[in-house]
Amino acid sequence: MTQPRSRTVVVLAAGEGKRMKSDLPKVLHPLLGRTLVGHVLTAARATGADRSLVVVGHRADLVTAHLSEIAPDAVPVLQAEQHGTGHAVRLTMAAVPDVTGTVVVLNGDVPLLRPETVADLIATHEAADAAATVLTAEVTDPTGLGRIVRTPSGALERIVEERDASPQQRAIREINAGIYAFDAAGLRDALGKLSTDNDQGEEYLTDAVGLLAAAGAPVGTYVAADVTETLGCNDRVELARLRRLLADRVNEAWMRSGVSILDPATTWIDVTVEVARDAVIDQNTQLRGATTIDAGAIIGPDVTLIDTVVGAGATVLRSHAKQARVGAGASVGPYAYLRPEADLHDRAKVGTFVEVKKSQIGPGAKVPHLSYVGDATIGADANIGAATIFVNYDGVAKHHTTVGEAAFVGCDSSLIAPVEIGAGAYVAAGSAVTGEVPPGALAVTRAPLRVVDGWVRSRRAGTKSAEAARRATTEPPGATGQPGADQPATTEPPGAEPSGVAEPPGAE
Ligand code: UD1
Ligand code: CA
Repeated sequence: MTQPRSRTVVVLAAGEGKRMKSDLPKVLHPLLGRTLVGHVLTAARATGADRSLVVVGHRADLVTAHLSEIAPDAVPVLQAEQHGTGHAVRLTMAAVPDVTGTVVVLNGDVPLLRPETVADLIATHEAADAAATVLTAEVTDPTGLGRIVRTPSGALERIVEERDASPQQRAIREINAGIYAFDAAGLRDALGKLSTDNDQGEEYLTDAVGLLAAAGAPVGTYVAADVTETLGCNDRVELARLRRLLADRVNEAWMRSGVSILDPATTWIDVTVEVARDAVIDQNTQLRGATTIDAGAIIGPDVTLIDTVVGAGATVLRSHAKQARVGAGASVGPYAYLRPEADLHDRAKVGTFVEVKKSQIGPGAKVPHLSYVGDATIGADANIGAATIFVNYDGVAKHHTTVGEAAFVGCDSSLIAPVEIGAGAYVAAGSAVTGEVPPGALAVTRAPLRVVDGWVRSRRAGTKSAEAARRATTEPPGATGQPGADQPATTEPPGAEPSGVAEPPGAE
């Protein structure tokens, strides 16, 4: 045979998954970056199938909508009532009468399957010119699974579901993974002969294998080297186990490719994420979706990044980001929140308790503490003082603020957009800026300081404040009356900066 066979993938995803106890169909439950069915389709399609068919039924609307997002070329086939895995494949084969060659059937709830394993199954099947080849595994606990029954000579005879099995058959530890390669013609023929004579009154796909074997057709098995690949997911306990196993697999692969993961047990990296070598991932870190981490970046501890791009050598500490970009050498956190379209250019800094949304933070620009930056363009090397608020919303519309290169915005300022602060301009601390500040100018909107002498004594008499004020105004400076004369004073010496004054804007 010189011409490669046509290959068709059929994924079974019509079941409800009752034991999940969920409004969401089982196959749509997420697992580290893909749904269950997404994982199965990815593994199957990587083998170069000509077409993929997905059997949908329970909440077909949801499953079909999901497929059109993740695999627009996969064709949904409706199984309106679910009368078993054999019924599902029979309807599918009837919907595509032109299909010949190899048909790979996969349960939609076996997400840890590797593409290499599907490829090996297909290669084994096609090399043997078999009618059916079943992926099996030797497991320690076969509970709930179909058992592989072999003849005395070791050939596959049939597959028996646990609920239909004799006590001797239940003792078999080789199980059916729910992944098969069939020859299309033989499969069609066997599906036409399925009965519903079993405990569930369903048409079992597994019986098609037994019928082919009974008819003397060549039927084989491919034993999975890694049992975890064959694990199905029937409830949320199993889902959590699969998540653990997949996370271990992903973490190991990244560590072997040169990424340091300091605490693999608390590091959850979606299968869709990319991490470059010499990146360091510290504990309690989740990297999700289309996130990419460039070389040498340090992420964590306590970081969640969703669809976020982090440049080389950047650091992100105890922070949350979604659809953001962190440039090379930039620094984020601790306790920063980067929202969609937060774009930190190289060496920018977004520090503690700072929220950024839809804003450009220019190269080397700093927003070190306690600020909100929304709908803004901040120029290179600008410094935004502590507690600066970009007031972008007037209750109806969002407005933009531009801060020029190397501008300096003092602490506790409000930039009431639309605002434009020119290059090199200064805004005095505590100002509310409502208009344009030309390059190099100083903007001040502070109210003059008003001091009312003796106010506390008359209006807050009897309080600790009044008492402290009395001591401070009647005793000589330095005599606090607290420490003994022979003990060193613990209070600030006279003439020190009064406490309670904020750091200079932008101070680290
Ligand atoms: C099936 C196998 C069992 C195997 C196990 C591996 C059968 C009869 N049994 O059992 O031998 O060990 O998988 O995990 O095939 N589905 C449909 N339409 C239906 C019924 C099911 O599309 O009418 C889909 C489900 O959504 C699911 C898959 O087929 O993705 C498997 O169905 P499930 O009910 O989980 O089969 P098991 O009882 O686990
Ligand atoms: Ca199952």
